[in-house]
Amino acid sequence: MNQLEAAKSGFLVCIVGCVFIFAFIYVKNTIPKEASEQKLSPELAECGFYPDELCAALFEGKDAAPQIGHLCQQVLRGQEMTACVRTPCNCSTVQKRLHFITRPLSEEEGNFSLAYIITIHKELDMFIKLLRAIYMPQNIYCIHIDEKSPKDYKVAVQTLVNCFENVFIASKRENVVYAGFSRLQADINCMHDLIHSKTQWNYVINLCGQDYPIKTNKELVQYIKSKWNGKNMTPGIIQPPHMKHRTHTSYREYVHAGKSYVYPTKNVKREPPHNLTMYFGSAYYVLTRKFVEFALTDERAKDLLEWSRDTYSPDEHYWVTLNRLPDAPGATPDAEWEGNIRAIKWRDQEGRAHNGCKGHYVRDICVYGLGDIKWIIESPHLFANKFEPQTYPLVMECLERHYRLKVLQQAEVPLEEHWPLQEHTYFNMKPNI
Ligand SMILES: *[C@@H]1O[C@H](CO)[C@@H](O)[C@H](O)[C@H]1NC(C)=O
Ligand SMILES: *[C@@H]1O[C@H](CO)[C@@H](O)[C@H](O)[C@H]1NC(C)=O
Ligand SMILES: *[C@@H]1O[C@H](CO)[C@@H](O)[C@H](O)[C@H]1NC(C)=O
Repeated sequence: MNQLEAAKSGFLVCIVGCVFIFAFIYVKNTIPKEASEQKLSPELAECGFYPDELCAALFEGKDAAPQIGHLCQQVLRGQEMTACVRTPCNCSTVQKRLHFITRPLSEEEGNFSLAYIITIHKELDMFIKLLRAIYMPQNIYCIHIDEKSPKDYKVAVQTLVNCFENVFIASKRENVVYAGFSRLQADINCMHDLIHSKTQWNYVINLCGQDYPIKTNKELVQYIKSKWNGKNMTPGIIQPPHMKHRTHTSYREYVHAGKSYVYPTKNVKREPPHNLTMYFGSAYYVLTRKFVEFALTDERAKDLLEWSRDTYSPDEHYWVTLNRLPDAPGATPDAEWEGNIRAIKWRDQEGRAHNGCKGHYVRDICVYGLGDIKWIIESPHLFANKFEPQTYPLVMECLERHYRLKVLQQAEVPLEEHWPLQEHTYFNMKPNI
């Protein structure tokens, strides 16, 4: 190699090196620092580096957003939460990595405890998302796991629950059958546990594993105190004729090897005990502690419960029938559907209460898709149903971010480092809490 060639190749090496260094610096500066901090997978870059931008467009109901989001969702689909779910963690790490809120966010909330009954049977991710949204240390949570859920699911829930003094698994568990008595019994099992716990909770709220909150804990407390102070919320009306079969015919639960359902028998039931007027309504409620004590001890309540064993979907008549008794604690004898407990897109209310389901219907209830997000966040209801993060992961991703931001904005105490779900935010709401 002569000197000229040596100089040439040296120059080339330098050029190549410089290009590399330059490219490195260039790339490093153009890839947003936040993106690498959020450890997004490379495929996600196609959805934009900022899921918040996409979420914000969905909240505003921009036309193109669901299409872009749909592509993005295909990448997200099937991904599961990894932190402290697939890998074992100690409890302080669980609370931090899963972003649990560890102190009451205001004095008013700290003074007003809510009890929750959550009935679940599958989808660990959704349960964690729900629990970390509604979890507050001053509240108490009874988790009813379906007796027929897989063992590894039960173990995972138990492991998580063990990290919180105020969260526990129901001491008695049912094999829950859709529309069966077992669904009502599951709630009652939790009520027995809650009444005997030492937490002096004010109200109890029931949820299922596919619910997600719209209102924050603070908004819930303020809504209950201002609009319902001491009263129960059990939306419903006198049993309409087309619902009579539910309590006139005797039904039975069929449970066998993975299959379960209720079916009508030929037997006609006797009239309800104590001449009770039957009502029909929501299985979802918000009840005072005194009313729960009443429901567990009053003779009429106990007789109605026994009588309801062979009825269809007794949770849709039991609470509302008792809460229309004028002498029940916190009763609302003249109430109808008021209460705003659940945002649900029913198939038969299409065109009236909502403009159609953008996800898909399951048993005539909408599983929310990306195009439903705007409707959800604008809803006056306390919680929404139904969610399926395995099918529509971006729906949950956006709602979680939005919800936690709202919770932290309303907080009246200094925020802890692990409370925000992400380090930075690009929503219009408020940047970088
Ligand atoms: C929990 O685990 C973390 C990380 O592995 C460790 O730093 C911490 O000391 C542990 N805490 C307890 C209470 O064991
Ligand atoms: C909370 O409870 C304490 C003690 O009962 C009371 O002094 C205080 O005023 C309450 N605060 C709010 C905001 O309700
Ligand atoms: C039920 O109501 C009917 C008429 O309203 C009355 O005749 C009957 O005695 C009542 N039965 C009971 C057990 O209260």
